[in-house]
Amino acid sequence: MNNKKQSLMQNLVSLTKRRGFIFPGSEIYEGIGGIYDLGPLGVELVSNLKKLWWKNIVRERENVVGLDSAILMNSEVWKTSGHVAGFTDPLVECKNCHSRFREDHLPDSRNCPTCGKKDWTDSRKFNLMFKTHIGPVETEGTETFLRPETAQGIFVNFANVVDTMRVKLPFGIAQIGKGFRNEITTGNFLFRVREFEMMELEYFTYPEKAEKDFEYWQKERMDWHLSLGLKKDNLRFREHGANERAHYAARSVDIEYNWPFMGWGELEGVANRTDFDLKAHSESSGKDLSYFDEESKKRITPYVIEPSVGLGRLMLAILFESYSEEKERVFLKLSSKIAPYKVAVFPLLANKPELVKLAKSVYLDVKEEFSAVFDDRGNIGKRYYSQDEIGTPYCVTVDFDSLKDNSVTVRDRDSMKQDRVKIKELKEILKKKL
Ligand code: GAP
Repeated sequence: MNNKKQSLMQNLVSLTKRRGFIFPGSEIYEGIGGIYDLGPLGVELVSNLKKLWWKNIVRERENVVGLDSAILMNSEVWKTSGHVAGFTDPLVECKNCHSRFREDHLPDSRNCPTCGKKDWTDSRKFNLMFKTHIGPVETEGTETFLRPETAQGIFVNFANVVDTMRVKLPFGIAQIGKGFRNEITTGNFLFRVREFEMMELEYFTYPEKAEKDFEYWQKERMDWHLSLGLKKDNLRFREHGANERAHYAARSVDIEYNWPFMGWGELEGVANRTDFDLKAHSESSGKDLSYFDEESKKRITPYVIEPSVGLGRLMLAILFESYSEEKERVFLKLSSKIAPYKVAVFPLLANKPELVKLAKSVYLDVKEEFSAVFDDRGNIGKRYYSQDEIGTPYCVTVDFDSLKDNSVTVRDRDSMKQDRVKIKELKEILKKKL
């Protein structure tokens, strides 16, 4: 990583901690590898992303429904899905210093990143699923796993959804939820972690339409990322070669982002999972997971197209893209759809009760409509910069003239331009802007 990119990463990590977006997990106990917590602003930002995804994937479509399945599932699910046997990464250990690495992440020189030696054990398959036990007795029979993907919760509920929702092929089932992977090495902040939220759609379709739908969803998903403000030049498609595809996929295309710390890398995956999962679960459980097609009067096992994106990676890409520096200020150029607060309201001076009183009433009124924050600490310039740094698109200031003319100043984050508007028109004006 060159110095500029390295300092961008450091600045972003520091800003997100300092301003309450992202905290290292269990920090007061020296942390825990590859786990992060979302702070008050992070949770707002992520919640906005989830709402936008849900709107685009579920609400705006006639043929997609939602689901929220449990994280813990019967261990047969993971045997049948192929995860027990196949959800592995190649692990090697340095014989000199005993550090462990993913073999395919070693540097080209194959020197140990910790001690520099080149003396490795043979590579072995390391399963990424976290094991746990159900109930008070810990035997082999009580063992199960924290889910590494939410998709399996959708497949095992396929018949329940078909039976209850009058869905007609092609249709989708969408889910947002946590996934857990005991990654051999974590790093690059939120890029590779061990616990993360993912947004997954399983789109069930006719086998003969699967290729067309696979193309359709690639474009849909790329357009969505562009709509969030990610730049076209920083996004591309990359098709997986046969040797890197997941065990269930006939074809996989990644939507890659040009990460400042590593160059191109996966942001979202779109896979054609064929009928692999439904067939496997049907055979293993003995329950019929086929679909009766009214038109052809035949039972078929649908193919599945799956777009799947991690919220942490998405948030990281958006933060990189929006991080901006000018002479005197750092600001996040977040789209107003994504910004944690849409509006901040200030009294010009904190020690003037008449200004504070009016500012508070403006704040409470605005807050009914938009996510808003009140701030009366420090001087007004510092308050503006403080809101810029967390990406608040508009700041509203109540000053002495406001007491006479019932107007306030609205400042735009990006241009820093200020407009005078009537308090009674403020909400309507903000609504148009936001
Ligand atoms: N159900 C499909 C599936 O799980 P995946 O490509 O393994 O596919 C989906 O994961 C998405 O989850 C990725 O595109 C990425 O955004 C995110 N993701 C995967 N592993 C991750 C990790 N260790 N840390 C953060 N995000 C991760």
